[in-house]
Amino acid sequence: MIIFFVDQNLKNLPISEILDIEKLNNVDKSIEVANGLPNECYTNANYLDHEREKIFFNKWTVVGVGSSIPNVGDAKPYNLLGIPLILIRDKDMKIRVFHNVCSHRGFKLLDKACNFKNVIRCPYHSWSYDFKGNLVATPHIGGLNNHQSEKFDKTKSNLKEVRTKIWMDIIFVNINSNEISFNDYIKPLEERWSNLINKEDQKLIVHSNDYGYFSLEVKCNWKFAIENYCESYHLPTIHPELNKVSNINDHYHIQGLPNRFAGQGSKNYEQLIRGNKKFNSFSNWKKNKLKNSEYIALFPNVMIGLHVDHFYVFWLEPLSMNKTKEHMQMYYVGNESANGEYLKELRKENSRFWKDVMIEDISAIEGMQDGRSSPVYNGGNFSPVMDQPTHQFHKWVANSLME
Ligand code: FES
Ligand SMILES: [Fe+2]
Repeated sequence: MIIFFVDQNLKNLPISEILDIEKLNNVDKSIEVANGLPNECYTNANYLDHEREKIFFNKWTVVGVGSSIPNVGDAKPYNLLGIPLILIRDKDMKIRVFHNVCSHRGFKLLDKACNFKNVIRCPYHSWSYDFKGNLVATPHIGGLNNHQSEKFDKTKSNLKEVRTKIWMDIIFVNINSNEISFNDYIKPLEERWSNLINKEDQKLIVHSNDYGYFSLEVKCNWKFAIENYCESYHLPTIHPELNKVSNINDHYHIQGLPNRFAGQGSKNYEQLIRGNKKFNSFSNWKKNKLKNSEYIALFPNVMIGLHVDHFYVFWLEPLSMNKTKEHMQMYYVGNESANGEYLKELRKENSRFWKDVMIEDISAIEGMQDGRSSPVYNGGNFSPVMDQPTHQFHKWVANSLME
């Protein structure tokens, strides 16, 4: 179990006392002269308080996927940098996210994944909430066997719900309820992808139950995973095998508005085919784009991979300044490809392929963490040609911190 200690005094420490603001200003310059984010953004525990607030609470942040709570009443706890949350599927199959705290004496309601039958019952004094968060039972509140009290207005003690949106099975939350609407937030990406996966096809994705999930724990700050994902520059060195089939030259940069996403695409995706076995394809994918695949980091903490025959969500759970849990969720087109016995071996191979790639990346992202202990490193430089999407992410972080 991870316990976060948040020192309330440090919370108010201005960022200018943690790092030199000039260093942040140096990030949002033209790429030829810009520096990357300063070391403090990867090594200073006080800095994390700013990042929690300005990035993880102010923005649309990923906390899981819907298919991990498939049935009515399925619930999971999630710790978002110290804030306890509950993810639950209500009786209308809608996914809701609540603050994981009882409105009575503040007991943490849920400690491990479970299926609630009718209500979320607090283990302390059994106050109970329905799946929409309404407080529906307050046993003995008025004394033994008296479950009501005229002096207590139940309606004021419902669970506190978090602003939530599900998109492509990904659960996004905006803790501070201050970000633009999710539809506006995702629009630039949906427009970009309208030739690949339109809204109709988005509904076809099905999570695989057998080879549809793996996780990795890495000893580095979450941002390194995003930075690394934004570029194909490291393909020949970190992924020599992948580079043989999808060469660095087959890739192009993706930069979606200054404030949303960045990544890379490939023009040489080869579908996995064994004999006459292959996965279903998205039906509205433009025929002249069958070999396109796109790898996009949607800021702050999710990386998605879209191919004509599968989709993945690689999302990050920041555990501390230098520890991150990576969650990989894999989807196919329709249930037959996602869960049918016939294609099981193919799914296994596909999952293994991506796991190998993600494992190869660990040396890169942990290596960057180690290097950040050096006092002479100033955030470094960017290749004006190869590092544009990475620079975009750095600018987004720097500007978000100064908002
Ligand atoms: S703290 Fe939850 S019922 Fe008392
Ligand atoms: Fe990589």
